[in-house]
Amino acid sequence: MQIEQIILSLQPNRKSYMRVFNNFNAIKETLTSINEEEATIGFVPTMGALHEGHLSLIKTAYAENDYVIVSIFINPTQFNNREDFDAYPRTVDQDLKLLEQFDNNVLTFIPLVEDIYPNGIVSQHFDYGGIENQMEGKFRPGHFDGVGTVLTSFFTLLKPNNAYFGEKDFQQLQIVKKLVQIQKFDVNIIGCPILREASGLAMSSRNKRLSDSQLQESRLIFKVLKYVKEHFGTKNDNELLQEVQNAFKNNSELTLEYFEIADESTLRPLQKIENNKKYRAFIAAFAGEVRLIDNIALN
Ligand code: PAJ
Repeated sequence: MQIEQIILSLQPNRKSYMRVFNNFNAIKETLTSINEEEATIGFVPTMGALHEGHLSLIKTAYAENDYVIVSIFINPTQFNNREDFDAYPRTVDQDLKLLEQFDNNVLTFIPLVEDIYPNGIVSQHFDYGGIENQMEGKFRPGHFDGVGTVLTSFFTLLKPNNAYFGEKDFQQLQIVKKLVQIQKFDVNIIGCPILREASGLAMSSRNKRLSDSQLQESRLIFKVLKYVKEHFGTKNDNELLQEVQNAFKNNSELTLEYFEIADESTLRPLQKIENNKKYRAFIAAFAGEVRLIDNIALN
């Protein structure tokens, strides 16, 4: 009996072999043969600690491409805070288990730091036309330079046809679209809807760090967003802002960092509602040390 058959017979429920590449050198040959087949690649970049939100991106990517590459890489340059980087959940074994549900056209790429940062761990600076100065950019200085730098490496190495990003990080999605224009990458950027827990809390790798009581109280975030959506256009914005601030003040576990209603494309704060524009409400809040973000489309 061959080793492969033995492995299969030990794992009768496993449909196929998962292909995991632990550095760029290892995936190179496979990329060449995919290109020779003229097959399409959908790319789903992640920092691991995978949950249903990530899996939904992979499923969408798989429905639209011949191959999917899922990357797992905790990108040091996008953390403006060393403690947050150190505390970021690292669960590669569990992640690989979750990825076993896909067939072997879903490839997992876990690059080395040197693959992504051949010249040392430093960020490139990007001018994204101003969207980088709002919200996440304001509160996490350098964050979007780090995101732009890591994705520049990934897009250059993997040359995907399509890349999938969650609206959970809506500002990041807009930043990536801008990055692709600036760097002239030949890739379509596709936004995917936010997946939520039954409680309404947006799924996030950071939720793993919440205590039971923090988890319980964190439902306030989506509750508030839904309330804002319900009253958008009828209640005055300042009144809404006041109500949001009060709701957080009365919560024992959460501290509001920002609440903003912004134009979906410029991400500038709402001045006056215009008919042809789309708006979103954005929240960032801390539960203890854990920073949570969420947003909702208002119109
Ligand atoms: P990470 O936080 O792991 O998220 C990977 C992708 O999953 C992002 O596009 C994110 O928006 C999406 N995602 C996370 N939670 C989601 C949810 N509840 N519903 C739908 N999509 C969700 O975002 C990053 O990693 C990094 O910044 C990265 C793009 C990988 C660059 O390092």
